[in-house]
Amino acid sequence: MLEELREWFGQYSSSFYTGDASDDPNYALKEEHTYRVAENSRIIASAAGLDEAGVRLAEAIGICHDVGRFRQYRDYSTFRDADSVNHASLSATVLTEEGLLDPLEDPERKTLVRAVSLHNVYRLPEEMDPAALLHARIVRDADKLDIWRVFIEEAAVPEKLRSSAAPLGFPDTGRCSPEIVAALSERKMLRLDAVSTVDDFRLLQLSWVFDLNFAFSLRLFRERGILSSYSPLLPMDLSVTRAVEALDVWVSERLAEAA
Ligand SMILES: [Fe+2]
Repeated sequence: MLEELREWFGQYSSSFYTGDASDDPNYALKEEHTYRVAENSRIIASAAGLDEAGVRLAEAIGICHDVGRFRQYRDYSTFRDADSVNHASLSATVLTEEGLLDPLEDPERKTLVRAVSLHNVYRLPEEMDPAALLHARIVRDADKLDIWRVFIEEAAVPEKLRSSAAPLGFPDTGRCSPEIVAALSERKMLRLDAVSTVDDFRLLQLSWVFDLNFAFSLRLFRERGILSSYSPLLPMDLSVTRAVEALDVWVSERLAEAA
């Protein structure tokens, strides 16, 4: 199932490329993101002690989680759900329409669809089937870890080669909104509707660290140097620097607790 899924995804994602230099980097970004999320899901599931079938299901969910992104970009030229469609629901629709999950039986099939559908919600529902909850937590951590990589790598390439849709259309003003900095200092996970600049969006991404579910994910956050790669991208502003330092301290404290 996993091998077939990977093969299908390779063909499906390549079918969207148009040869247009303004569109293709957006598809390439999601294609690469998908493989990386699947890999992150595999290692997180493994570290969490899932058996082989569970690890393979986690990897399959990683492959499936963003399949809706391709149609979203093709039809709306954006990755911003509020201006287009809920891409997680669209992923679930694509998987069903393509008959991809037919070889899978319940309860795995239901778990996969539920985890994919909920991978982008602000908070997971309180009442959830335990397997779906576990897999939703895995894919959410795996996704966050790779989105951090995407934004670090995007900042390092020349502007004309960047994905036009990744920054969601926020203006690059070189500033952060004071309310966003304050909310980050209060260890709140920020909401997209409060964001108004590219740097606000970067702080929002950093606030996802408060939502990580596994100590292993937090360890990857530290080991991959995510915070130290984000810091130089942010405005040289004392309140921002302090908020980022406080976040670093929070990570160290959580890691020490988990050790
Ligand atoms: Fe997603």
